[in-house]
Amino acid sequence: MAARVVILAAGSGTRMRSALPKVLHPLAGRPLIDWVLDASGGVGSAAPVVVVGPGATVLRSHLAGRAELAEQALPQGTGDALRAARALVGEADPVVVLYGDAPLLRAASVRSLVERFAAGGADAVLLTGRPSDPSGYGRVVRDPDGGFRTIVEERDLPGGRDGPEAPGGGPEPVEVNAGAYAFAAAPLWAALERLSPANAQGEAYLTDVPARLTRVATVELADPEEMLGVNDRVQLARAAAVIRRRVLVRLMRGGVTVDDPASTWADAGVEVGADTVLRPGTVLAGRTRIGRACVVGPFAQLEDTEVGDGCRIGTAHLAGCRVADGVEIGPFNRVRPGSRLEAASRLGTFTEVVRSRIGPGSAVPHLSYLGDATLGRDVNVGAGTITTNWDGLGKHATVIGDGARIGSDTILVAPVAVGAGAYTGAGSVITEDVPAGALGLARARQRNLLGWVARRLARRREPSGDNGEAPARAAGEGPSGDESA
Ligand code: UD1
Ligand code: CA
Repeated sequence: MAARVVILAAGSGTRMRSALPKVLHPLAGRPLIDWVLDASGGVGSAAPVVVVGPGATVLRSHLAGRAELAEQALPQGTGDALRAARALVGEADPVVVLYGDAPLLRAASVRSLVERFAAGGADAVLLTGRPSDPSGYGRVVRDPDGGFRTIVEERDLPGGRDGPEAPGGGPEPVEVNAGAYAFAAAPLWAALERLSPANAQGEAYLTDVPARLTRVATVELADPEEMLGVNDRVQLARAAAVIRRRVLVRLMRGGVTVDDPASTWADAGVEVGADTVLRPGTVLAGRTRIGRACVVGPFAQLEDTEVGDGCRIGTAHLAGCRVADGVEIGPFNRVRPGSRLEAASRLGTFTEVVRSRIGPGSAVPHLSYLGDATLGRDVNVGAGTITTNWDGLGKHATVIGDGARIGSDTILVAPVAVGAGAYTGAGSVITEDVPAGALGLARARQRNLLGWVARRLARRREPSGDNGEAPARAAGEGPSGDESA
């Protein structure tokens, strides 16, 4: 008979104090439950059964197509939750039970339960571990000959959770229940019917089942970190740190240099090519992919962004954009969704780009804003250039042809086009298209008022009324004053 996985996720998750179901809290960018689904992937061929509470609409739609859903009407304990799965589990044997809040469990550990079960001689195989801090876990109690006797929940220990150490505990770290099991189906379903809620929480505990079975085997986790259950946000942060470290280890083994793993974050789905260096403080989120031989950071944040090979990205924030090979960005940039930076293009200090294409070899070296702009190849954009893409009602496009030179402090009032090879004069407000090869100049002609400064000072020194003018007026006179003054 085939094995079937059941994942329990109908608890109330009270200790999280959250409107979001506990198993949907993200770890390295993926909901907790997805990590558990991954760990269960190698068992059986049917989709796992996930037990959820009533309502739980977000969780249900998250799981749609990946699991069969059973409903536990009230959160009356882990044993009660497993009962709710019985109809969907059908004839499957063994029944492999995992908790939806234990995201660090590895697939190999789940497989080891099934392998031990298949070796025969056990009605139940339990996963156990000896963590440095056993708080919160059910204690495994053994007979003097070392055989399994029972599991005692922490709250049911003599004296409760503040009582003395676990029965059987000593100087050695105590053995606790990791919360993963392989059960022979028939005795499991029979034992579940006989569970009593006579315990500190008034619940039907799944942990009372093994003591009711005759042949119980255990598999001990070599790495007790794997069993970490997320009950509150402190444990959520601990689990997230472990997952982040695993992701970085995967990247480093793949040839990525991570200067400072402690300050570098990468989500689960992130891919980085060999010989790329991640400088400290770099955060790679979502479906970010970075090619080979890039240098990223320090303090770069990339979200859902694709980067080619040989790029240098300094302190910058990039989201939802595509960066081709050999591009240089930074420092201090924001590249927003819908942007494409083509090969060997360059964005310098304090440049923001949104929904724009920067053509191959083009440069925007300083202090610019490009929104809804399409730049051809080898365009140079002078410092302080702004596309005014928003007219208060809608967004408009700016198109700049190959080889154009945009003078510093040009304002391009969209919709507008600058033709191939054209120039704009520095400080121009370009409201009309500039034909290819032309110079677009749109600024007032400069006038120099010769001797103006000396005249102004002289007027200041004259006593009030002598020239029929109030001194205040003279002081206020500026370059816009009377040209013949
Ligand atoms: C449980 C175990 C404990 C073990 C620990 C490992 C029990 C009674 N105790 O304790 O021995 O050391 O996990 O992490 O099983 N759930 C339901 N319905 C319910 C109650 C819980 O579906 O009525 C689900 C929860 O959503 C959760 C899982 O079962 O995913 C475990 O429940 P939780 O309350 O977190 O159990 P622990 O106190 O952590
Ligand atoms: Ca738990």
